[in-house]
Amino acid sequence: MTQDQKKQAVGEAAIKFVTDDCVIGVGTGSTVHYFISALEKVKHKIKGAVSSSDDSTKKLEAMGIEVFDLNSVDSFDIYVDGADEITKHKHMIKGGGAALTREKIVSAVAKKFVCIIDDSKQVPVLGAFPLPVEVIPMARSYVARELVKLGGDPEYRQGVVTDNGNVILDVHNLKILNPVELEKQINHIPGVVTNGLFAIRAADIVLVATDSEVIEIE
Ligand code: 5RP
Repeated sequence: MTQDQKKQAVGEAAIKFVTDDCVIGVGTGSTVHYFISALEKVKHKIKGAVSSSDDSTKKLEAMGIEVFDLNSVDSFDIYVDGADEITKHKHMIKGGGAALTREKIVSAVAKKFVCIIDDSKQVPVLGAFPLPVEVIPMARSYVARELVKLGGDPEYRQGVVTDNGNVILDVHNLKILNPVELEKQINHIPGVVTNGLFAIRAADIVLVATDSEVIEIE
């Protein structure tokens, strides 16, 4: 199977978490794209969605699915999203699609985070994928210098402005042995909006597409 076929298989498999009358939390990215397409079959049964990006909102609305402002939703059961890397502890790097801040906010409200990945995303240690950090534009150089002190090599993601009007620094060459600690440390740097480590709030359930099947890890 190609990586894209695996993304499709796992996106479709996640539909089993969509229950009648639910509000579903929807992530961002190419794997989630397949999940959104699969919602076509069940969209008549759900109340609507909360979305983690303008891109996912557009796709959901184009299908006639109502997208609620997160401020109008107290809680919901399931958030479905992809990841760039994930460990056996269900700690993740996310933000390859620059939607990390809204993803972190929406997933914080959800009771359960269902992470949908192809098997290339499973790693023993996080950090081979450059860690995205969303930064207030005026703080870009300062934050970059602070990230160097933490042992990383930050690179400005040229030409990208997040849905929140900020910029992204991708931090290379980190070997992240304590993701919970590093997530806190980076978030304490003034000017950082958030970073792409999802370790304090890890995934609850992981669906992994392999060459032959979709495996569920709880
Ligand atoms: C976007 C994300 C995505 O979930 C992550 O980049 C994985 O994307 P894809 O499913 O396209 O491989 O965090 O900000």
